[in-house]
Amino acid sequence: MEQLKAIFEKFVKPKPKVSVGLDIGNSSVKVVQLLTQPGSLFKHLVSFDIQPFKSSKIADISQAVKKSLENAQISTKLVNTSVSGQAVIVRYVQMPKMTTEELLKALKFGLGKYIPFNLDEVNYDFQILGESGEGKGQKMMKVLLVAVKKEVIEERIKILRVVGLTPGVIDVDSFAIVNSFKLVQQENKGIIAVLDIGADITSTTILRDNIPHFNRDIPIGGRHLTKAIVDEFEMTEEEADDLKHNPKERYGDMISAIRSVLDSIASEIQMSFNYVESQMGGSVQKIFLTGGTAKFKGIDKVLNSILGIDVEVWDPTRILQINLDLSKERLIEVGPLLTVSIGLALRG
Ligand SMILES: Nc1ncnc2c1ncn2[C@@H]1O[C@H](COP(=O)(O)OP(=O)(O)OP(=O)(O)O)[C@@H](O)[C@H]1O
Ligand SMILES: [Mg+2]
Repeated sequence: MEQLKAIFEKFVKPKPKVSVGLDIGNSSVKVVQLLTQPGSLFKHLVSFDIQPFKSSKIADISQAVKKSLENAQISTKLVNTSVSGQAVIVRYVQMPKMTTEELLKALKFGLGKYIPFNLDEVNYDFQILGESGEGKGQKMMKVLLVAVKKEVIEERIKILRVVGLTPGVIDVDSFAIVNSFKLVQQENKGIIAVLDIGADITSTTILRDNIPHFNRDIPIGGRHLTKAIVDEFEMTEEEADDLKHNPKERYGDMISAIRSVLDSIASEIQMSFNYVESQMGGSVQKIFLTGGTAKFKGIDKVLNSILGIDVEVWDPTRILQINLDLSKERLIEVGPLLTVSIGLALRG
């Protein structure tokens, strides 16, 4: 009987599910391993690692991926990863109401209306989000369009293959960020913006009642702050990066040096807000900030003073059950850098 029970459990008892998210950012690789017990709502952070890379050559990135997997003791070969930047287009568009088949045909000939690339150079997908009232005397619907340049996806797959990994989901950074955000903020009424400021990109998503309505990757980030410090203080990049991480008594001088970059980021954000507000008939009430540059001392206050909107820094690791082997101090230090990788691992 006991034997039968053991056999039964072996075959039928649901196993804990392990999933891996691999974020290949513009400055570093971030990997996380999450575990979910069957029937449990809790997500456990089993391990993570962050590896900067020397250059954006495939060999250097692959090396960093390999090292991050070793450090995080990940043996799973199936990983979820993502793409971002100017080669990725996410559009929430209004169209006359039609069926999926009709939409498929319409996009085959009319995708160029929404996406600034040739059809044959992108992989694209769409999702009908639902009806959205009447326009020009006909019923309208809202559609999410995503197009990614083929070369970008091919490069990601190449990196994974070099390291012996199999791509699971290939997502878009901004969707992964929203996934993480929803884990932290399950109920959010009204219009808010979720921003991930990385090294080269500020991913901006605007949500109403927790549903995304707009996304744009602004091509400015922490590297531009470092560059402004290099120029102002005539330092090496390494020295400028150290100062940026730990400004101490030079904080005031540093803020003056980077003010124009912060103004540029803020004005790009404001432009997106203006566009969305004209479409949505309401204003953005709050900014939720994450990504490595959210760690920059006082960035919430600076953006708040320029934009006049409440800014809160958030970090998805705060809501996870943390494996006892992991250092909580280190996690507090790097939590906002893990937003994309956690959002990817949440895809299962
Ligand atoms: N404590 C800190 N203070 C200031 N800046 C920081 C701090 N920690 C990290 N950063 C900056 O955050 C950036 C890296 O963030 P992140 O890892 O989110 O970017 P990435 O994902 O590699 O790039 P991208 O999202 O643009 O592709 C770097 O510019 C780094 O200097
Ligand atoms: Mg990033």
